[in-house]
Amino acid sequence: MEKYLVIGNPIKHSLSPILHNHWFKTHNEDAIYDKKKVEENELEGLISDVKNGKISGINVTVPYKNSVIKYLDKLSIIAEKTQSVNTIFKSDGKVCGHNTDCEGFMLGLMQTKFKTEGKKAFILGAGGVTSSIIYSLKSNSISEIYVSNRTKQKAENLKKIFPDIKILDWGKKPNKFDIIINTTSIGLKENDRIELDFSDCKDKLFYDLIYSGKTKFLKEREILNYTKDGMSMFVFQAQKSYETWLGYKPHIDEKLWDLLSN
Ligand code: ATR
Repeated sequence: MEKYLVIGNPIKHSLSPILHNHWFKTHNEDAIYDKKKVEENELEGLISDVKNGKISGINVTVPYKNSVIKYLDKLSIIAEKTQSVNTIFKSDGKVCGHNTDCEGFMLGLMQTKFKTEGKKAFILGAGGVTSSIIYSLKSNSISEIYVSNRTKQKAENLKKIFPDIKILDWGKKPNKFDIIINTTSIGLKENDRIELDFSDCKDKLFYDLIYSGKTKFLKEREILNYTKDGMSMFVFQAQKSYETWLGYKPHIDEKLWDLLSN
């Protein structure tokens, strides 16, 4: 039986096993997908397990999307450009890192009918997934990207990869923007709130990457603005990971949404 894993810390909240095990079952694959909370010093050993065939594939989540890179033999172009890996697989004896967050994010965004060309984006956060969002928006002709993070240095680090982004102090917002994306973990806990005044915002798209239900960030905006939660991005990035490992696209069916919403 082939073994797949999602690794991170914390990992308890991850719905990836439900998703992938559902797909393995519907496509009659002799495989199992588990979640594992790991410490930084365990990363190298897990990558060796991919090399020696004990593990067939790994998904990487917070906080290791960047730190796992040093143990890999090869990166895909997107993983290289974003310095972020969420999917690990073996090819020609080499352990490779790929990033499916970019495509997952764009496929989610396409469901909203929002057109990126010439628009202004405001991104909250500068954590592990933020470079994927910047890369996707830039690849889809966004005109300006503002990034604001509590720890400004982490936003400045992103500017080293993407020199044309504009950094704002935490608590400030740009005069004009069309889409705002929450890439922080604020909202994971029920009472979490982003302390920014958006009362003057109308007809903008509020996109929250959190997929565990509608956050306050979205709930408080849905009358005057458009909103999108992170569930479809989550499903699409997983579908791309599965395709990377197994070579075909698994079906996104009704049962899958039922499983995820329960
Ligand atoms: P990591 O930073 O380890 O990659 P992450 O979950 O991908 O982890 O990112 C967490 C993001 O949420 C960061 O942008 C973090 O801001 P800091 O860089 O300042 O830590 C942001 N975040 C989490 N809790 C926050 C809070 N209470 N207020 C503001 N930002 C917060």
